[in-house]
Amino acid sequence: MTLISADWAAALYLAAAVCFILALKGLSSPRQARRGNLLGALGAAVAMVTVFLSTDLDNLAAILIAIAAGTLIAVPVSRRVKMTQMPQLVALFNGVGGGAAALVGLLELDHAAEVGSSLAIAFTILIGAVSFAGSCVTFAKLQELMTTRPIVFPGARWVMILVTALAVTSVVAVAVTASMPLAITLLVLGLIAGAMLVLPVGGADVPIVISLLNAFTGLAVASSGLVLGNILLLVAGTLVGASGTILTRAMAAAMGRSVAGILFGAFKGGSSAGSTAIATDRPVRSATAEDVAILLGYAQRLIVIPGYGLAVAQAQHTLAELTVALEARGVEVLYGIHPVAGRMPGHMNVLLAEANVPYESLLELDDANSRLKTADVALIVGANDVVNPAAKNSPGSPIFGMPILDVAGAKSVIFLKRSMRPGFAGIENELLFEPQTTLLFGDAKETLSKVLSAVKRT
Ligand code: TAP
Repeated sequence: MTLISADWAAALYLAAAVCFILALKGLSSPRQARRGNLLGALGAAVAMVTVFLSTDLDNLAAILIAIAAGTLIAVPVSRRVKMTQMPQLVALFNGVGGGAAALVGLLELDHAAEVGSSLAIAFTILIGAVSFAGSCVTFAKLQELMTTRPIVFPGARWVMILVTALAVTSVVAVAVTASMPLAITLLVLGLIAGAMLVLPVGGADVPIVISLLNAFTGLAVASSGLVLGNILLLVAGTLVGASGTILTRAMAAAMGRSVAGILFGAFKGGSSAGSTAIATDRPVRSATAEDVAILLGYAQRLIVIPGYGLAVAQAQHTLAELTVALEARGVEVLYGIHPVAGRMPGHMNVLLAEANVPYESLLELDDANSRLKTADVALIVGANDVVNPAAKNSPGSPIFGMPILDVAGAKSVIFLKRSMRPGFAGIENELLFEPQTTLLFGDAKETLSKVLSAVKRT
């Protein structure tokens, strides 16, 4: 017996779908993002409760145990995860979604009444398995459980072509025969294809692949909506598929790469991860916090370029305090935000919003580049790849083609970093050795605190 009618269930699903659409809209602006997130969660809660109210469920106890187990794992993990580990967490959640869709497909095969439904099931199994295995590999790469460099073995390209051809053939065979052994074979082929899709991708490109796999999971979920006759799964899956695709393209464009180049570049020998040897003995100009305070204090226009190191040091509050102190002395302070600075889209915006830096002070890439030409100082806090001129000048470099924040136009460049180690792409940055560059070594939070004290003293 069900507690609500099919019409009520449809109305509640519609309400949940509207919540998801408004959530996406909200997430597109920093001011509305929190509300968007809550709306999305509300939509998911409405959808889940509707399933219980509108369906005559077998195995209720097993379902409740599974929900309790998932909640017990996910809540503490989500609370404890650091901001810098968010991409791995997203990869894991995404993979679980794809895996769940694939399992739903397998379980529904017995109920497939016609070729159309078994085709949708075969598609769900394949895409869900690709997304699950691919996401597990991206998780392992980002968590540094395995090398972040591209992994390619001789003949990998041909193995990939063979696996893809076998998978497509199996999709057709499952659609026609609805055979369970063939469906399990398809699942295994999907898992192999997913792993092989991500193994050749270099570390710097992994976030783009997460977003692509997210789009895959969306497609698998949409297709499981077809299988189960659930319109909300269809809508939610399509939204995830579309937004994942848009994000993938936007991130690839921000890094100056094509999606095909990211996925298959390593097969052709064009690795997408860093491999340049780093020369550690070249001389650089380093300074004390007092020297930096003087340089900053006399600047008229300062452009701060934050990067991943700001997140590691959790130095956003100290940075904001320093910029307020400088503004009080008449220095114009702006922030140049690179779209892939940090380790996830919008990473710097989130950090700076936490420290109450006004949105009006944040400049996007093109705007920042035109202002950098007239800046007195570019203060680079824990950034490296996003200002590396190799992206413009070195055709062989793994980051060649990525648009950068062009700090060379500023009169002085100050780097805050702990050592001469490279950034995520693993390549040397010539800018560190330029005559206008000064380095202040140390953890960004500590060095910024020292600079702040020195600014206040002078
Ligand atoms: P990176 O190139 O990774 O450079 C980070 C710099 O921060 C390093 O030079 C590091 O040098 C320094 N650093 C680390 N911890 C620090 C600390 N506690 N205090 C001070 N400095 C510290 O960062 P980026 O310029 O932001 O570039 C982002 C890179 O990540 C790009 O290659 C991008 O493609 C990739 N990526 C982006 C995303 C997205 S979507 N944002 C996701 C994944 C990967 P030391 O070790 O010497 O301190």
